[in-house]
Amino acid sequence: MNILYIGAGFVGACSAAVAADSGHSTLVFDIDQKKIQMLASGDRDTIESCLFEKGLGDLLVRNKERIAFTTDYSNVVNFLASVDAIFMCLPTPEIGETGESNMEYYNSAAEQLATALAKRDGGAQQKYIVIVNKSTVPIDTVDHTQEILDKAGVRNVGVVSNPEFLVEGKAIQGSLKPDRIVVGAWQEKDFDVMRNVYRRFYDSPDVEYIEVNPKEAAAGKLLANFYLFNKLAICFDVIGRTAEAFDAISFENLRRILINDDRIGKWGFYDSLYAGGSCFIKDARSLSHQLQTAGQEAVLVNETYIANKRQLETFLGRAQKDAGFDWAGKRVALLGLAFKRDTNDTRNSPSIDIMHFLEGKNVSHVSLYDPAASDMFKSMFAETEKRTYASHEFDAVKDADVIIIATDWPQFRGLADVIVSELQTRPLIMDGRRMLHHRYADLRNAGFDVIAVGSPFIRGHA
Ligand SMILES: NC(=O)c1ccc[n+]([C@@H]2O[C@H](COP(=O)([O-])OP(=O)(O)OC[C@H]3O[C@@H](n4cnc5c(N)ncnc54)[C@H](O)[C@@H]3O)[C@@H](O)[C@H]2O)c1
Repeated sequence: MNILYIGAGFVGACSAAVAADSGHSTLVFDIDQKKIQMLASGDRDTIESCLFEKGLGDLLVRNKERIAFTTDYSNVVNFLASVDAIFMCLPTPEIGETGESNMEYYNSAAEQLATALAKRDGGAQQKYIVIVNKSTVPIDTVDHTQEILDKAGVRNVGVVSNPEFLVEGKAIQGSLKPDRIVVGAWQEKDFDVMRNVYRRFYDSPDVEYIEVNPKEAAAGKLLANFYLFNKLAICFDVIGRTAEAFDAISFENLRRILINDDRIGKWGFYDSLYAGGSCFIKDARSLSHQLQTAGQEAVLVNETYIANKRQLETFLGRAQKDAGFDWAGKRVALLGLAFKRDTNDTRNSPSIDIMHFLEGKNVSHVSLYDPAASDMFKSMFAETEKRTYASHEFDAVKDADVIIIATDWPQFRGLADVIVSELQTRPLIMDGRRMLHHRYADLRNAGFDVIAVGSPFIRGHA
């Protein structure tokens, strides 16, 4: 099949790579010239320094005969003559703090596409094409997409919803072995096209292939994300807080007791600063906005959002409250800038809010380190005399008065050895991911004060 992807972000690039690997001819269009150049480079490292997804580089290089990238819309127009399916992979961020989805990117791409579709084969528009929403969109978007197409005089198209369930950091692995594929369509002929797009998975006994209508598909995506977000909020705000409130309760032991109940499950059972990333927050806000617009209450959805926010505020406040730490004039080491391990995505990363907090506290210097996301972070927080980027976590912590661990990169687990054996000073350790939990007793015995999510204050032995 011939498939066009509009938007070459995490979703567009990864989905297109898997489609090419499934034997389809794919064209990927984006307005971001630098991104397209890097993705088209044919060089694994260049590709993955643009979108840090394990396996993306190999997949694009291996399938280079079947995938092309462009910023030139005339290539899109030419491709329309033979295209079978067009995937819309545009960003749908929140507008301010309103909960409403910003559909500008989506609508402007859809309008541009509609104008081009109406002109194909001299206006005859003979070939049937499906337009597929892969972006996470409001539930009634299918109606608006249809309106945009109708207004431009487009004929012979179907509108389908095919939400994306990829997990950043495991996007390729997950897309090559999805647990489910959800296709929402109104007409049998649209389902038919999509079965051919996903033939590799439709025929697989390991993949749950779910056919519903487009509104159910869009709602299912929003609700799945809310369910996961709520699970995280329960871990942070209820289970973690319980472990913080009582001596001699370890978060890890609570975890063992709870996750061995199949009804509770293992996923997301950790303590952290913030459920960040590009999706959970904005999708919960969007769900709340849509429910309220439809005249429903959204109390639990709103509380989940607030509980998530509260976690980081509580953690930072503990420096003063528990350890009497005064931030003014202090040197800070901030480890972990990506919103989670295995990605360079910094959207809604707790470190962004930590940086804003530090700016308000008049600290003297911040040394930042991340194994993958420093370049992304620099676009928001440029290097200055008072804000420098270290090339290793050990360099970042050297002269610090406080060390904050904000991302769960596995390499940070080894940090306790260096802290205990090599630091002459006794900085406050703030572990926002419980990366050093196996060494809290050693750190305490070596004289370090430790504030960790999911633990009461650990005062270092003098
Ligand atoms: N990232 C995830 O983990 C994930 C998972 C599931 C669903 N989603 C959803 O998928 C959608 C895309 O997410 P993403 O993470 O890939 O976003 P992204 O920001 O990484 O990528 C979006 C791309 O669209 C491009 N773009 C913007 N306007 C355009 C236009 N008019 N024409 C062509 N390209 C244009 C941007 O340049 C960018 O490269 C969102 O709705 C998101 O909620 C994301």
